[in-house]
Amino acid sequence: MRDIRADQAVGAYDLRKVTEAAARAAYAWLGRGERAQSDAAAITAMAEALAALGIDGRILIGEGPVSETTLLYHGQRFGDAARPPVWDIAVDPVEGTSFLAKGMTNAMACIAMAPAGCLFDPGPAFYMEKFAAPPAARGRIDPAAPVEDKLAALARLLGKPVEDLTVYVLEKPRHRDLVARVHAMGARVLLYPAGDVAGALMAAIPDSGVDALLGTGGCPEGMLSAAAIRAMGGEFMARLDPQLATERRAVDEAGLDTGRWWRLDELVTSDDVLFCATGITSGLLLEGVVRSGGVDKTTTLMVGGEAGPRQMLSTWHPRQG
Ligand code: FBP
Repeated sequence: MRDIRADQAVGAYDLRKVTEAAARAAYAWLGRGERAQSDAAAITAMAEALAALGIDGRILIGEGPVSETTLLYHGQRFGDAARPPVWDIAVDPVEGTSFLAKGMTNAMACIAMAPAGCLFDPGPAFYMEKFAAPPAARGRIDPAAPVEDKLAALARLLGKPVEDLTVYVLEKPRHRDLVARVHAMGARVLLYPAGDVAGALMAAIPDSGVDALLGTGGCPEGMLSAAAIRAMGGEFMARLDPQLATERRAVDEAGLDTGRWWRLDELVTSDDVLFCATGITSGLLLEGVVRSGGVDKTTTLMVGGEAGPRQMLSTWHPRQG
C-alpha cells in the first residue's frame, strides 16, 4: 500500500457520490437522442461532485485535451494545485453515450482513482485490444495467442467445455473475424454495440454469465476496467490498437509499442485503487436510475477501500424542486 496523506484519505463510499451525481444528471436525457446533452450534464455533475471531495488529484483519463473540453480534461487539477497531486483519476461520466441516447441498456457513470503515477497513460492512443477473464485465468493465458488457444486454455482453467464459454464482444465490423472464430469453436458470443466496461467487469466476476471479454475498444474504458479488476480480482491485459489514421500516426510519433501486451500490474501498479460505477440504464452489471415519487434510486458498484473487493449499494435520493 502507498502512504496516502491523512488529509487525502477517501473511500469508495465518498467516491460513489461522484458517479451517483453523474448518473442522475445523465438520466434526464435517456432516450432523447441527445448524446452531447447527456454527456454535458453528466460531466458538469461529476466535476462538481469531484471538487466537493476536497482531494488533491489530477485527471489522467478524462474527456480529452483541454483544447476540446472545459471540464474533466487531461491534466485538470482538483484540490490544491500548488502541491503535487496525490491521486490520479480516470473518469467516464457516461460510458455508453449512444446507448443512453437511444434509451438502451448498459449505460453507466464510472470513476477510478489510484495513487499518483500508478495508472498507465495511453497517451494519444484511443483504442486498445483487451482480454478480460475470471481470477482463475490470472497470468495463465497468453493474450497474444490465437483466439482458439485462449479459449481452449480458459475452458481448461474454468473446468468446463469450450461450448459452455460465453464471450462478450463489441459488435463492430473490426470484430467480424473474431466472432466467426469464437462461433466456430462452439462458444457463445454476447454482442453489444457499446459498453465494454460492463463486459470486462462481468468477465472478471466468476460465474457472472460472461467468461471473457475479447476485442478492441476505448483506452479510457480499458483503464477504468483495469483499475476495477485490479481491486476486485480477475485478469485484464491490453495492447494499444489504434484504429484511425491520425491516431496511428500520433501513437507512432510518441514511440508507443503496439505489439506489446501490458499486464494488469503494469496498467495499474498499486493495490490502493478505488472504483465506482453507477447504472444510468439497466444492463448486465447494474440496475439503472429509477425515478419515481420525487425520489431517484441509484445502484452503484463500489470496489476497493472500505468497500472491499466488491459491494453493491442502493441509494434513495430525494429530488429537489
Ligand atoms: P459511447 O461513445 O457511446 O459512450 O461508447 C462507449 C464505447 O462503446 C466503449 O464501451 C468502448 O470501449 C468504445 O465505445 C468503443 O469505441 P467505438 O464505438 O468507437 O468502437
